[in-house]
Amino acid sequence: MSQAKITVVGAGNVGATAAHIAASKGLGDVVLLDIVEGLPEGKALDMAQAKGVYASAGNLTGTTDWDKAANSDIVIVTSGLPRKPGMSRDDLLAKNAGIVKAVTEQIVRTSPNSFIVVVCNPLDVMTQVAATVSGFDKNKVMGMAGALDSARFACFIAEELNCDIADIRGVLMGGHGDDMVPLPRFTSIAGIPLTELMARDRIDIHIQRARKGGIEIVNLMGSSAYYAPAAGAVKMAEAILKDTKSIVSCCAYCDSEYGIGGAFVGVPAMLGENGVEKIIQLDLNETEKAELVASVNHVKELVSVVETMI
Ligand code: NAI
Ligand code: 2OP
Repeated sequence: MSQAKITVVGAGNVGATAAHIAASKGLGDVVLLDIVEGLPEGKALDMAQAKGVYASAGNLTGTTDWDKAANSDIVIVTSGLPRKPGMSRDDLLAKNAGIVKAVTEQIVRTSPNSFIVVVCNPLDVMTQVAATVSGFDKNKVMGMAGALDSARFACFIAEELNCDIADIRGVLMGGHGDDMVPLPRFTSIAGIPLTELMARDRIDIHIQRARKGGIEIVNLMGSSAYYAPAAGAVKMAEAILKDTKSIVSCCAYCDSEYGIGGAFVGVPAMLGENGVEKIIQLDLNETEKAELVASVNHVKELVSVVETMI
């Protein structure tokens, strides 16, 4: 069987880390692509040499030439400006919309049958840009945020409960912003609902911290996170390439689901060889529904702005 081909667009913090994780897992041939001459080539060469230490399958190519990304199975799009202290994710809208549009046009030209996993912020809106510009079937375009945000939520829970983080399954919905909707009723530790193991006031503290999880890191180091975001993007790529049918919180197209009415937003979704294969519909209570509606409305407002730009 031929190797899967994964292209990571943007050889910056998230992109290079994602390429490295994918390569170290031996997920397939990895192409790291950027517009800055030398950067993707240098990082890919370093990673290829690391493979001499940990020995995994697949080739690594660093390039500024889109033709070398041709016929990719999956393209992970990280080419965008990151946040600096004082910036919201929404502040990146205009600049990143232009980048994601140009990158998506290249994906359509070189890999018309690929899946697209968007990472650039503002995440839900950039996923819409990639979907609109590509015209790909909606199950083939998705965004990475819920995998990160639920992992952050899990990290804070594991610290407090002093339990194995691998036992925690966090579920989170809505847009990738301060109004995201972590769902403690559907978050479990080895199958036990979080609400059985932690008092509501402590859960609320972790929900607030997860909502502000991105800016917490920006404020600490002056630029945005990349280890966990890259791990989230590769988890999604792996679920598709290996047809694992994993249920991952991710930004997927929803129409009748949750009454969302045609928008890319975070929902629990099953990922497999057909991309987003199923949106999992949870029976939300009134508070959860209201939070989801507010978050989705925020995404829709930004989408209406971006539609005038692309
Ligand atoms: P970075 O600045 O380290 O890397 C971005 C790279 O994209 C740079 O190397 C740049 O040269 C490249 N680039 C720009 N325009 C390009 C183009 N047209 N074609 C190819 N490459 C191009 O930024 P970082 O930290 O890697 O973040 C990337 C994006 O991901 C940002 O928009 C950031 O906000 C977002 N992000 C999203 C997360 C999420 O949960 N969805 C989490 C973390 C970051
Ligand atoms: C994060 O949540 C900045 O969206 C990025 O870390």
